[in-house]
Amino acid sequence: MVTASQTKYQKSRRGPSAQSAKAKPPKSAYRCSECLEAAPQWSGKCPSCNAWNSLVEDSPVLSPAGSTDNAVLGLAQAAAELPAVTPTGVGELDRVLGGGLVGGSVTLLGGEPGIGKSTLVLQMCAGLAAQDVKCLIVSGEESAAQIGGRAQRLGIDGTGIDVLSETDAERVLAVVDSTSPGALIIDSVQTLAVPAAASAPGSVTQVREVAQVFTAMAKAKNIPVVLIGHVTKEGSLAGPRVLEHLVDTVLEFEGDRHQGLRFLRALKHRFGSTDEVGVMTMGTLGLDPVVDAGGLFLDDRHPGIPGSVVVPIVQGRRPMLVEVQALVDLDSPLPQPRRVAQGIDVSRFSVVVAVLTKRAGHPLYRADVFASVVGGMKVSDPGSDLAIAIAVASASCEVPVPSDVCVLGEIGLGGEVRRVPHVERRINEAARLGFRHAIVPQGSKVDAPQGLQVHPVATVKEALMSLNLKPPPPPEKQR
Ligand code: TYD
Ligand code: MG
Repeated sequence: MVTASQTKYQKSRRGPSAQSAKAKPPKSAYRCSECLEAAPQWSGKCPSCNAWNSLVEDSPVLSPAGSTDNAVLGLAQAAAELPAVTPTGVGELDRVLGGGLVGGSVTLLGGEPGIGKSTLVLQMCAGLAAQDVKCLIVSGEESAAQIGGRAQRLGIDGTGIDVLSETDAERVLAVVDSTSPGALIIDSVQTLAVPAAASAPGSVTQVREVAQVFTAMAKAKNIPVVLIGHVTKEGSLAGPRVLEHLVDTVLEFEGDRHQGLRFLRALKHRFGSTDEVGVMTMGTLGLDPVVDAGGLFLDDRHPGIPGSVVVPIVQGRRPMLVEVQALVDLDSPLPQPRRVAQGIDVSRFSVVVAVLTKRAGHPLYRADVFASVVGGMKVSDPGSDLAIAIAVASASCEVPVPSDVCVLGEIGLGGEVRRVPHVERRINEAARLGFRHAIVPQGSKVDAPQGLQVHPVATVKEALMSLNLKPPPPPEKQR
């Protein structure tokens, strides 16, 4: 039986293009689920990105709900119509969201199975319910009793939180209509299905249909929706990038399943910055915030090992000190030397290695070079370039960097060290955590904090000399 609400949503999802399509059926087209390029006909391999089995039938583009009767607004007037932001009560989530959940917004929370997504949203619901925002958790993979059991373990009494174990998206819409929750959680977008789409749950078509149904609902009812999405082994959201342009916010929840640390990042956020990182630990009572994350990654440092140096990075507004490690085998046994980077952008890493070779005389052209950021952190701050260079140089000449030294600076292709933002904030945090020396780009405006000496450098070579990291003899001469 089709309910009134379903007809309403089905109607709202049919844009003018779909109606005109009645007169003349649109030509069937295909779209790659990886690169999103359209293709006129199906083939096993995407003609644009060469991914295998990624082409799926593409339905005609649907207009967002209510798009036809949107009125033109003056920009000043439009700003006055900004939706309300509700803090979720989970501090680290609010940090990443820039305050909280926005009314009518759709957030995609992605992460590997078992990383803690369901736990995070349950804690979020407890926070929202405490502010009298009624939450509905829809699970297509767990029974209501399982969710109840988790809540009990976490000490959440459950007042104001409804649970529904359901896989039919249309039936979920009917429940939303009758219960009017203040926030809706779909766990997960891959386990629900729109029956009319006649495709298996979890397929790209279904995942997109489900996301479209709930996006239309979020906008029509002005309630925030959180869609949980499992991430595939390759690291993309299954059904994957097809959803990223549909939703307002894409959050990535990461960490090592066997260690307690969890990182929450925004990959896309229509309502604020994507700079902030939420840091949490998974304990027996759920996720706990790590408020003082400054020295979190330095706890188990082993001083005196060549190839290790610390860089003060800035994540959003928070300074954090992270250790960069490198390992170098100057004479690789392989015809193509390996360059492996973990937690560091690979192209950035290649540039740093090339600069070390060409501008600082380190003979790395036949070397296997490995570099990683300790603790599972991903560093995209260009201010970490100099630390990568120093770690690699220290590993290449096997001279350790003193453990009370931290370094920061961006590196140019000419071997120059460029200035970076927030030097003072970074250096102050380093001083607070007991560092005595900081190598910084020349011209940085900084007052040295008490107990820490600042050493300005203009080039990578100068930075290496100040730490006595002289280039080793080239591999031919070593043999
Ligand atoms: P879960 O939130 O179910 O992960 P996801 O929804 O991402 O698949 O949590 C998965 C793991 O977290 C599970 O292996 C048990 C662990 N866990 C804890 O360590 N402490 C806790 O308080 C809870 C609720 C779970
Ligand atoms: Mg789960």
